[in-house]
Amino acid sequence: MTGTSDALFEYIAAELAKFVAQEGPEYKLPPGRQRELGFTFSFPVMQTSITSGTLLRWTKGFSIDDVVGQDVVAQLSKAMQKLGLDMCVSALVNDTVGTLAGGRYNNNDVVAAVILGTGSNAAYVERAQAIPKWHGPSKSGDMVINMEWGNFRSSHLPLTDYDHAMDAEGLNPGDQIYEKMISGMYLGEIIRRVLLRMAEETAIFGDTVPPKLKEPFVLRTPDTSAMHHDASSDLKVVDNKLKEVLEISNTSLRVRKIIVELCNIVATRGARLAAAGILGILKKMGRDTLKDGDQQKTVIAMDGGLYEHYTGFSKCLENTLEELLGEDVFKSIVIEHANDGSGIGAALLAASHSKYLEDQS
Ligand code: BGC
Repeated sequence: MTGTSDALFEYIAAELAKFVAQEGPEYKLPPGRQRELGFTFSFPVMQTSITSGTLLRWTKGFSIDDVVGQDVVAQLSKAMQKLGLDMCVSALVNDTVGTLAGGRYNNNDVVAAVILGTGSNAAYVERAQAIPKWHGPSKSGDMVINMEWGNFRSSHLPLTDYDHAMDAEGLNPGDQIYEKMISGMYLGEIIRRVLLRMAEETAIFGDTVPPKLKEPFVLRTPDTSAMHHDASSDLKVVDNKLKEVLEISNTSLRVRKIIVELCNIVATRGARLAAAGILGILKKMGRDTLKDGDQQKTVIAMDGGLYEHYTGFSKCLENTLEELLGEDVFKSIVIEHANDGSGIGAALLAASHSKYLEDQS
């Protein structure tokens, strides 16, 4: 996540080479035919064609300065060439766009994709005519928008002292404010910051502040999710996590209950805000109301570990969406889990683009 551009892309190329080396004989290509690759790159890119795009900025804790402003496809191609890997990128695809394509391949009612994992973002299908800055052709009349919604911020989005401090002390201050309130990379860190303040201002963990609690990002969202879901009467999981992760022992049941409530508050805020983002997309697409006799289903392809594994979060998101849309409209919305949808979708886009070029020639 830190280092040089060459180290990053040569690592990816080396992993690809290992994968190709493991393939069985049924995948051997005829001589002269190159392997083609769908390249899922889950960061903000200024996309200049289906096979080129420059990195605008890193997110999610990555920090490799010399890639910013570079064409990531050119960088990967250079690394593949250096390793003698006879392969080329046929499609550069954001993970949301890959998830949308993979979802749509399986189900024609898929119109949007959302990622709730380490980071967060969404993509949806828009009418090309509704995009003022697009002057090119569009055969289908449609266009996919990669929203990069993680970078949303607004004076209407109230931030706490903990949000401000986490943002200011992080690698990308001022960026990805919405992502920092809703995604897996940050929920645990917000909770750690609240716990630290509680430890400093009250004697919740005894007379001294536990030193581990001062370490940024030591408390990960899977840990807070496990504590939040603890169903045991004495909150054994909370007790274990506090010991293992924060080296805090001898907490009372009362303190452990406070911690569960804190996890609930931070996850609920994230889930409700993520639901608001989805409602925004539905409104933009005119899918937030039912037209007369409308039987149309609106399917959202969803991927990411946060949504998949943190059921308290995903349930709250769904309940909020129902609350916002009303029971009847909510019945027409399906959130479909797309496991590694982005990788599969990128491969499908690469394959169909390759076929398209072949048909043209
Ligand atoms: C990136 C997006 C990506 C999302 C989910 C964000 O940090 O900016 O490009 O889609 O994470 O992986």
